[in-house]
Amino acid sequence: MKKRIFAAAGLAMIVVLAMAGMAYATLSGLSDSEIEARVKDLVSKMTLDEKIEQMHGSAKPANIIRGSFMSGIWDTAENKRLGIPALKCIDGPRGVGMKGATAFPVGMSRGASWNPELEKRIGEAMGYETRAMGANILLAPCINILRHPSWGRAQESYGEDPLVLGTLGSAFVVGTQKHVMACSKHYIANNIEGSRFSVNAVIDERTMREVYLPHFKMTVDAGVASVMSSYNDVNGFLAGQNQHIITDILKNEMGFKGFVISDWQNATDNTLLAANAGMDIEMPTGAHLGAPLKKAVEEGTVSQAVIDAAVTRILREKLSFITPDFSKGYDKSKVGGKEHAELAREAEQEGAVLLKNDNGALPLDKGKLKSILVLGKLADTPNTGDNGSSDVPASYVITPLAGIKAKLSQAGVPAPQVKVIYNNGADLESAKAAAKGADAVIIVAGMTSKDEREGGYGTGDRLNLNLHADEEKLIQAVAPETGRLIVIMEAGAAVLIENWMNDADAIVMAWYPGMEGGNALADLLFGEVNFSGKLPITFGKTLDQYPPFDIKAKEVKMEYFLGYRWFDHNNAEPRFPFGYGLSYTTYQYKNLKLDKKKVGKSGAVIASVDVTNTGNMAGEEIVELYVGYNGSKVERAKKDLRGFTRVALKPGETKTVSLPVKAESLAYYDVGSKSWVVEEIEYSVMVGPSSADKDLGLKGSFKVSGI
Ligand code: BGC
Repeated sequence: MKKRIFAAAGLAMIVVLAMAGMAYATLSGLSDSEIEARVKDLVSKMTLDEKIEQMHGSAKPANIIRGSFMSGIWDTAENKRLGIPALKCIDGPRGVGMKGATAFPVGMSRGASWNPELEKRIGEAMGYETRAMGANILLAPCINILRHPSWGRAQESYGEDPLVLGTLGSAFVVGTQKHVMACSKHYIANNIEGSRFSVNAVIDERTMREVYLPHFKMTVDAGVASVMSSYNDVNGFLAGQNQHIITDILKNEMGFKGFVISDWQNATDNTLLAANAGMDIEMPTGAHLGAPLKKAVEEGTVSQAVIDAAVTRILREKLSFITPDFSKGYDKSKVGGKEHAELAREAEQEGAVLLKNDNGALPLDKGKLKSILVLGKLADTPNTGDNGSSDVPASYVITPLAGIKAKLSQAGVPAPQVKVIYNNGADLESAKAAAKGADAVIIVAGMTSKDEREGGYGTGDRLNLNLHADEEKLIQAVAPETGRLIVIMEAGAAVLIENWMNDADAIVMAWYPGMEGGNALADLLFGEVNFSGKLPITFGKTLDQYPPFDIKAKEVKMEYFLGYRWFDHNNAEPRFPFGYGLSYTTYQYKNLKLDKKKVGKSGAVIASVDVTNTGNMAGEEIVELYVGYNGSKVERAKKDLRGFTRVALKPGETKTVSLPVKAESLAYYDVGSKSWVVEEIEYSVMVGPSSADKDLGLKGSFKVSGI
């Protein structure tokens, strides 16, 4: 039975459906059994040509010039005779890849919110815009786990932890699928741009199950309609032609009922391998699953059963999701409109991370300041991220400078208004002179799509993780001239800040903050909104603390230890640990309690902790729970994130936060028996505000034994 939660399916609806014998509704209103019957009937009526037409994109190979087709709808054929609609794909995941759509902050910023409820609303907004623009599938979320911050598309992902990726990815899927199909991508181990078309990712079975797949599984469980294969090889076979990962694991082991779609070029290169591995749709052309597939069926090298299985999967999702007049009633003025722009602003308010804040540098008090100097090219540059497939040509972008100016020109600012001076920082002497006279200096620095983006053939990745040399010089030159230096960084993943971090009083990680980014940053800088974001990735001190990264690599071994687990494993001290982020208030954690000392393998332990806002500003704290393994038979991470939640607290307020830990979430994958094993050992539980050992002072433990 399909697991789906749809728009109309509020609680009452679910009860009605359950009473009628259907646990879940579909967008089309058909029940699972009705869909299966109709699909069967259609397949029985289709000719081989009609079936194969369903299995590939309609673009002609000659029209495909990478880079020329951004922002548009990609389709497969419509079958008028049988009334089967075309698949119409649009890119995500920071917004819909069409002119005028809402540009949300990138996935990494939303990862930093650790907020699935917000991510669901973002998915819903993008799903709405996708449908209003005439498409029926959004090519998002991107849930590739971040192995290395150099990856050119790091910004599209939610970070380095499977639980964060899976929780946010499945929330996004549920939201999006209230309107259109979603697509979890790129399956799997897509984490280098330079050699993305050729690199062989070598992943052992345990690492695959525990590190690379849990988040895909979570989106499958959330009912995702489609999964996009990656371009790279996995253990010697193109991911898009890899029977083991597509059929054995995704379809059989995980129980995925939707269709697999190839990435856009080069993701399949062999008709027989692709079809027999379980690739259902080749995009954007039929180079391999078009005419050559028909020939293969006629010659008997691909069976009719393989074709029918693929077409069944495709039709199942089409009948579940696509209704006649699909976009009717969808209001185009909501695309990039006020409501979604406000959501984009809220997302950045929750996604920006305050990394440093000494001497009360922030928040800025607009009643007290007389002048602010805003420095750096990026302060005045619309910078929403990659210009590859994830690009969103929004109708406007509020830059940090524009956001700060707008904030200070609002009514109610005590006269005289704060003067905002802008200097692009190109001339150090003029920047220094301007800094001398200002009450606060804000430098915006970081990356653009020139530094990190979707690529291939040796391009796209960010090999130098520092800020640009001129930006570092600017920070160092200006620092002695001011008592209040705030650095705002824009980038898709970690930046190394050792060269200048002591020069800055405050540092903010803004990521690529979306079309409303400047407004959201101003809300945070002036303390109208409290910081609450926490890093979904580890910020190292030096490049050599990370695993090796080679953009020309032909083969890369995907390590079991990744992100904070890699740092822990190597006893490397990060600059900022995974899960770290400051706010304008302080929180105290007390009274960690576990509801039991012993639990069966199918049970759960509930951890509870009292969290108090001990400062004087309301805020939202992200509470993190990690587990450790005492006496495991196999090598384990020092700690694994196994629970998190956000809690809103007024000054002085205490709330008891409960975090359940299911025993089955503690299992390791046993390669010998090909099964998950929950060990009967003692597990430690650590709760606190970040993954740093010093932050995880609250500890408990429990044992697992019995069923
Ligand atoms: C990207 C995908 C994208 C597709 C369609 C590919 O090159 O890797 O993420 O969805 O193009 O634009």
